[in-house]
Amino acid sequence: MLSDVDLKKKAVGEKAVEDIQDGMTIGLGSGSTVYWMLKRLGEKVQEGIKVSGVPSSVRTENWAKEFGVPLTDFSEVNRLDLAIDGADEIDPNFNLIKGGGGSLLREKIVNQAADRFVVVADESKLVEELGAFPLPIEVVQFGWELTAKHLESLGCNPELRKKDGDVFVTNNQNYILDCQFNSITEPEKLHEEIKSLVGVVETGLFFNMTNQVLIGEEQGVKVLS
Ligand code: 5RP
Repeated sequence: MLSDVDLKKKAVGEKAVEDIQDGMTIGLGSGSTVYWMLKRLGEKVQEGIKVSGVPSSVRTENWAKEFGVPLTDFSEVNRLDLAIDGADEIDPNFNLIKGGGGSLLREKIVNQAADRFVVVADESKLVEELGAFPLPIEVVQFGWELTAKHLESLGCNPELRKKDGDVFVTNNQNYILDCQFNSITEPEKLHEEIKSLVGVVETGLFFNMTNQVLIGEEQGVKVLS
């Protein structure tokens, strides 16, 4: 049986598919909310809709294959009609923290290539200010300890991400440093500061990108735009 949160994720993931039109090329985000979007999209494909998707993680690629969603990549397309992705935090200006699943780099490449970017999330992801969720930062493996020290000087406490006791390695063979900032008042400025550090590949701060947010609530799906 699905938990209350999973029911909200399912409702919002399925709702996002209503935006998908025949012939579209779609950016396929990552995470458990996107899972439900992919499952429903697979059903629409079975019903006859013609679409193709660019996956933002190996996990998403595997789910898309399982559900029969046709895939493509950036060797074949350079713009996407629509991208649909989850988020870990969403502020009132649609600034996001992403990367809880470790796919932030590919997600940013995919979402930035889309004419329209829609975020799907349950209501727990809405915040007044970003920063309670530790900011995921993708860094190269070499010298990560030094990169962590430099990040520390920006006012956070970087933790090397681990999974099942092992260091977590991204789909791009990098590490993730989860950085607790508590309060991020200027996401764009912080992103620029972090990006200027050698060893940083990308941050989980997403801004000036989101066109619409779909929120799964007790009462149904709320549309914010
Ligand atoms: C992965 C992400 C996910 O979109 C984010 O963590 C939300 O995941 P979920 O839908 O499982 O709550 O950014 O890198």
